[in-house]
Amino acid sequence: MITDQYGRRFEKLRVSLINDCNFACVYCVGEETGIGGKKFIGSLSPEFSVEKGSEKLRTDDFMQLISAMHAILSLKSIRLTGGEPLLYGELIPLIRQIKALGIDDIRMTTNAFYLKGKVNDLIAAGLQAINISVDAIDPVIFARMSRNNHTERVFEGINEAVKSGIEIKLNAVVLRNQNDSQIIPLLEYSAERNIPIRYLELMKMGPIFNQQKDLFYPESEILDTIRSKYDIQELPRKNGATSRYWETNTGAKFGIIANESTPFCHDCNRLRMDSRGYFYGCLSNANGIRLTEFINDWPQLIGKLEELLAMKQKLKFQGSILSMRNIGG
Ligand code: 5AD
Ligand code: SF4
Repeated sequence: MITDQYGRRFEKLRVSLINDCNFACVYCVGEETGIGGKKFIGSLSPEFSVEKGSEKLRTDDFMQLISAMHAILSLKSIRLTGGEPLLYGELIPLIRQIKALGIDDIRMTTNAFYLKGKVNDLIAAGLQAINISVDAIDPVIFARMSRNNHTERVFEGINEAVKSGIEIKLNAVVLRNQNDSQIIPLLEYSAERNIPIRYLELMKMGPIFNQQKDLFYPESEILDTIRSKYDIQELPRKNGATSRYWETNTGAKFGIIANESTPFCHDCNRLRMDSRGYFYGCLSNANGIRLTEFINDWPQLIGKLEELLAMKQKLKFQGSILSMRNIGG
């Protein structure tokens, strides 16, 4: 068993299937490639660009790496991310193959733009839960946050997912003076549908790496905003969880992922892989290790996984030039 001095192990694998996305959220994609830009990809150093297409993995390559990781780590769950994972053409066969490995807990994080019409097929393939990123209910604010004008498609996708009965959570990144007015509307929207919502403190990543101070909206203010309308009570935190949860006096459940205010590195159990087959032990470390060439060499693979585990922060996320587009959350 690969364990570090704090007793942390890799139990959950997050796989970024594609580093392309049909949205260009302001905290994820830089200005120069955002509005009006064609590709929305150039905000990072060229080594992370999707133009390195030759390095993109195919389903067989993903499966080789995932099955090796599962054989060594006995993974508890897999989360499929992007970029936008619904842009990955072979998503359904990939989910089926992951399930066939014996991993039942398969999850996905999506912006839901392409979700409508797909939910039942995803469930039939083996998908167990969906996290949906929604930063606003108001369409004008939604468009400003995501640089995408088709809010209604996202909400149609959410409706379909709700109807299907699959487990859903909403994620909202809160930015000062951008979408902080949406904290209550998001809470009420999700409460009406009985979906838990999690607010995310802005993480120092990618394009906002050096300019997140003005935009940062802390957990304490999120709680104050909700307390201005509801009485709230904190619920117990699960081991390894990224969020703390509260419940309002009206029974609405919400969480906060507070990387800055309440860091949770001490029991982080996540391993990440990007769409080129590079692995990351920690979001704070942008230097991935490519494992493809070690796929049949277990002593080497185990050594690399130990190296990756040692990259985890003791306490707190340090920031990274990597954008979520490359590493998927
Ligand atoms: N800080 C916090 N959350 C972020 N996300 C993307 N970039 C950031 C950031 N810099 C969120 C997305 C999505 C999840 C995977 O991570 O909105 O919900
Ligand atoms: Fe796309 Fe997610 Fe980045 Fe938004 S945060 S641009 S939905 S990858």
